[in-house]
Amino acid sequence: MMKFLTPVLAALTIGSKMCIACSLHEGPTGNLQPSIDKVLEYVRSQHSASNVTTSIKNVRVFDGHDMTEPQTIFIANGKVTSRLPHEKADMEVDGTGKYLIPGLIDSHIHIDTVDTLELLSSYGVTTGMNMVCRNYTLCSALAEVTGLAQYLTATAGATIAGTGSPILGSTDNAIYPGDNVTNYVDDQFFSGSPAMWLKVVAQPGEDGLTQEQMNELTMAAHKLGYYSVTHATYLETFAKAVKSKTDILQHMSGDKALPKSLIQEIISNKQIVTPTMAIFRVGTNQPLLQEILRQGANGTANFTTVSENVRALYQAGIPLLAGTDSAAVPQLNISMPYGLALHCELQYLVEAGLTTCEALRAATVVPASTQRLFGRGKIAPGFRADLILLNSNPLFNISNTRDIVKVWTAGIESKHVTRNLTQQCSALNIVPLA
Ligand SMILES: *[C@@H]1O[C@H](CO)[C@@H](O)[C@H](O)[C@H]1NC(C)=O
Ligand SMILES: *[C@@H]1O[C@H](CO)[C@@H](O)[C@H](O)[C@H]1NC(C)=O
Ligand SMILES: *[C@@H]1O[C@H](CO)[C@@H](O)[C@H](O)[C@H]1NC(C)=O
Ligand SMILES: *[C@@H]1O[C@H](CO)[C@@H](O)[C@H](O)[C@H]1NC(C)=O
Ligand SMILES: *[C@@H]1O[C@H](CO)[C@@H](O)[C@H](O)[C@H]1NC(C)=O
Ligand SMILES: *[C@@H]1O[C@H](CO)[C@@H](O)[C@H](O)[C@H]1NC(C)=O
Ligand SMILES: *[C@@H]1O[C@H](CO)[C@@H](O)[C@H](O)[C@H]1NC(C)=O
Ligand SMILES: *[C@@H]1O[C@H](CO)[C@@H](O)[C@H](O)[C@H]1NC(C)=O
Repeated sequence: MMKFLTPVLAALTIGSKMCIACSLHEGPTGNLQPSIDKVLEYVRSQHSASNVTTSIKNVRVFDGHDMTEPQTIFIANGKVTSRLPHEKADMEVDGTGKYLIPGLIDSHIHIDTVDTLELLSSYGVTTGMNMVCRNYTLCSALAEVTGLAQYLTATAGATIAGTGSPILGSTDNAIYPGDNVTNYVDDQFFSGSPAMWLKVVAQPGEDGLTQEQMNELTMAAHKLGYYSVTHATYLETFAKAVKSKTDILQHMSGDKALPKSLIQEIISNKQIVTPTMAIFRVGTNQPLLQEILRQGANGTANFTTVSENVRALYQAGIPLLAGTDSAAVPQLNISMPYGLALHCELQYLVEAGLTTCEALRAATVVPASTQRLFGRGKIAPGFRADLILLNSNPLFNISNTRDIVKVWTAGIESKHVTRNLTQQCSALNIVPLA
């Protein structure tokens, strides 16, 4: 029996059992594998970093707490700088009446193509934390792409062979009963590995990783100087993940309220949570998925539960990160939209009780400082010039993060910007792939 990996993708796995069964047997190099050629072609065509200097004048800037008085922001060599090498910038942008916020970080996403990176930057998402690497050759190539949203990646998802969806796990990199998981972790961080953190997948029931294995996986990552994150979507697995002392919990208990004692444990373990509310929202909104999700979590998974759990964590002062679980699944011809989903995640976080300021922090300074993304998440000299210029103030209404004028990634202005994002997030849904 296929177990859930993410609510939506694994739900679809169950819903399309016939279809998935074929690709399962085709193995990871079958139609699961996106082409690396396009990525390599793009990497080869890249020019060196932009030497265009930019000044954004008379703009109010999100300083991590508030909007400053109007000021001028300079960009040179891909970074924000206190002064320019020349008196006049190559590009001058009038920021009068506008707002500048750091580029957004999606702390839970699945990326396989350059097109996705371009799509993300068009929405002001300038960093994507890829949550499972299915092929290290492809992941290394994507990590070389510049001028678009930056791709940073996890390892393969550590899970017992046969218990995860092949969409997210790599059957080549699964753990078999009796395997030494310390050696498994060493293998993922081979010399030259693009992986920056360990991904672990907690599955419900008897078939998944044992508590002991989960503990060892995190210890092994720490021993090598990496942090670990753990997928968990049920109270049962969430509690196991907490006990494993993993650094960041991915998703949320979708079936039951988090007990106070577990929240206390999260606090004393100094853990962080990326609740991925968007995927639960879509998953429980979409009729097919809704039906399957109810079965999957024994009839109890719902967005209200997720939202109440997020509120409880927030009230307990646990750091929360904005992540979406956006993904494209070619063999099922579906996609959880990229970019828009992160803006909607911010809205859901606000609806769960965060202030607009804290929601912005959950996609900027907090993910940067907790996930070792040095030089990101703030607008300050020496920081990467990942910037979004907005027409209206997101501290006033979080939906104003969608009122985008311009986007820069590492100082390079995005050619394509998705404007007039007036769609309500209730329109967010699983869509067929283009
Ligand atoms: C990973 O992708 C590369 C390039 O497409 C391919 O040559 C290789 O066989 C893939 N590896 C696995 C294990 O699927
Ligand atoms: C950027 O560098 C290129 C090549 O070194 C040079 O031709 C171009 O004039 C420079 N552009 C600016 C704006 O400095
Ligand atoms: C796994 O292998 C490592 C050496 O690579 C060893 O130190 C450790 O004790 C082994 N763990 C188990 C559970 O056998
Ligand atoms: C969601 O689940 C909770 C229990 O966790 C239940 O009280 C509530 O009625 C459910 N809501 C819906 C809409 O199913
Ligand atoms: C669903 O219920 C069955 C039977 O009570 C139990 O074995 C299984 O672990 C439950 N699944 C989840 C995800 O809670
Ligand atoms: C924020 O803007 C949206 C879209 O215009 C609107 O529906 C909502 O009521 C606004 N929220 C607040 C708190 O003003
Ligand atoms: C977007 O909004 C601006 C200002 O409201 C308007 O001038 C422009 O025509 C709109 N563009 C599209 C594609 O709807
Ligand atoms: C994906 O679904 C859409 C809408 O149902 C359809 O138009 C399109 O042809 C499908 N694409 C593939 C590759 O099956």
